[in-house]
Amino acid sequence: MVGAGAREHALVSALANDPSVEELFAAPGNAGMGSQAELLDVDANDPNAVTALAQQVHADLVVVGPEAPLVAGVADALREAGIACFGPSAAAAELEASKAFAKQVMHSAGVPTARAGVATDIDTVSMMLQEFGAPHVVKDDGLAAGKGVVVTDDFDEAIAHAQECLAKPNGRIVIEEFLDGPEVSLFCITDGVTVVPLQPAQDFKRVGDGDAGPNTGGMGAYTPLPWAPANLVDDVVRTVAQPTIDEMARRGTPFAGLLYIGLALTSRGTRVIEFNARFGDPETQVVLASLKTPLAGVLHAAAIGGLAELPPLEWYEGAAVTVVIAAENYPGTPVTGDPITGIDDAENVEGVQVLHAGTKTGPDGVPVSAGGRVLSVVAQGATLAEARDNAYDGVNAIFLRGSHYRSDIADKAIEGTIFQTAPQGADS
Ligand code: AMP
Ligand code: GLY
Repeated sequence: MVGAGAREHALVSALANDPSVEELFAAPGNAGMGSQAELLDVDANDPNAVTALAQQVHADLVVVGPEAPLVAGVADALREAGIACFGPSAAAAELEASKAFAKQVMHSAGVPTARAGVATDIDTVSMMLQEFGAPHVVKDDGLAAGKGVVVTDDFDEAIAHAQECLAKPNGRIVIEEFLDGPEVSLFCITDGVTVVPLQPAQDFKRVGDGDAGPNTGGMGAYTPLPWAPANLVDDVVRTVAQPTIDEMARRGTPFAGLLYIGLALTSRGTRVIEFNARFGDPETQVVLASLKTPLAGVLHAAAIGGLAELPPLEWYEGAAVTVVIAAENYPGTPVTGDPITGIDDAENVEGVQVLHAGTKTGPDGVPVSAGGRVLSVVAQGATLAEARDNAYDGVNAIFLRGSHYRSDIADKAIEGTIFQTAPQGADS
């Protein structure tokens, strides 16, 4: 397992629970994974270093968690060395690394998405913003850890964000039409040919309750989605995932790994907001908590081109909710180095597991905060309401000075106040 966040902790947990897994290493891993995996130090973004380490431990499979190593070519180096890897090549990871590239692929594949334009100078930006109208959607073309997008009614704020992105080396931005309606994250495991969808989840990207404040990497998630149309997954595989995977293969850069499809269920039909080339964080924490099929065999099948022979996935009844505990000032520069207490008490709550993200072990063995998103408290329950209540019981047992979390994760789904105004079908 390559990576160090709560998503990787969730993956490590799922792999550790797979009876076919004999040995598990996490590189660099984090303080929470120690009981399930042996931690090994590595620069995750160095393809040669990761490959050498995988050879040293005789890895049968390497699972890459974050996008940066994929974009740096870690999966290419591993495959070249004959090591099975779950994660796309650098060329295929462009689907995440460049929003402009993703738009081109969607266009060629006939995938429904927001109208968009690309700009490298502020005059073009200004013209496009006026043409598309408010609310304005301004995106950094490149990787920005979930923080490159500004959605605002305020023209000046849109221009200011564009200027900030354009000031970067090779700065390029994408301006889009605004998409209304609830968002869904659908993860598709693929070997480059066959697509196997996981259970859809919903992520909460804004920092504050009621979707107030700036975008973050994700503040919470739940699965399943009781309000989603029954045919959503089949429709999205047929109209989005399969055409995209076929288009990538046709271009000679097959995408094998996890295709993360961020969707908006708009009043005009389902539209793709973004692709990512890896599992989403925090949605992975709830999706994997709900997956009954042992994970390693599924990821290995994807890595070696064997998904067509895989039996259908099995899922637990019930629901899962995760709430992220973030450090003071996140998504700005987080305050770090503060002790975290109560993790054991949280894990004593029925159905709760505490996954580490931005933590490290302090001098006296007590975990201390070391990043923006610090912990991901995951809970299962017979119902969504039970899972939510368990998750917040866990959150309330934990103390980290100055920390904050959203208190409304999954509430609207539980109350039944999320509505898809779209007509049925993904391509209306
Ligand atoms: P992205 O990095 O493209 O996923 O964007 C991050 C978040 O910004 C999304 O999850 C949405 O909440 C919001 N967003 C992105 N694009 C749009 C759009 N065209 N219309 C409305 N909201 C958007
Ligand atoms: N949860 C959003 C992401 O992983 O990009």
